[in-house]
Amino acid sequence: MLLQSGVYMLQLDQNSSAISAADRLLVEQEHFRLEAFLHDLRGTCSKLGAALDCGCDKEQMACCQGRVASFYYDFLDLAATHFDNEENIMRASLPAADDDVYFQSHQQAHARLLREVQASMRQALALSKQGKTAAAIQLLYRQISAMFGEHGHAYDAVLLRIT
Ligand SMILES: [Fe+2]
Ligand SMILES: [Fe+2]
Repeated sequence: MLLQSGVYMLQLDQNSSAISAADRLLVEQEHFRLEAFLHDLRGTCSKLGAALDCGCDKEQMACCQGRVASFYYDFLDLAATHFDNEENIMRASLPAADDDVYFQSHQQAHARLLREVQASMRQALALSKQGKTAAAIQLLYRQISAMFGEHGHAYDAVLLRIT
């Protein structure tokens, strides 16, 4: 991966124009919002890290189950918009984006991330239906944080280093 990142960065340095301060700000603000969503999700459950069965009453459990479901749609929507924005910014900075290895790879990684978020959500919803809402929230938070963290290091860091 390191070698690949090096190759991508070299290609970007050779072929790209700098992204604007406004575009950089947009990407950074969206990253912040995605992180804030994850932080809020984690804050939904005060029993994370405890036993898988949180022991909350039915009312609280229903509230957390609703939160898991709404997180999914809100987060997926925000992530899809963010990926579109990054791809548009890359298209504008690369003269032949569709032939660019970094762009293609970054675009494919976005599509893969959306599929992986959906897969995590299916697992989380299954846990939530079994009453294991704390485990569902923990799974979503850990898996999605790890996926987006890895993506940020492998791809977005290269994009933001263009300037
Ligand atoms: Fe990003
Ligand atoms: Fe990205």
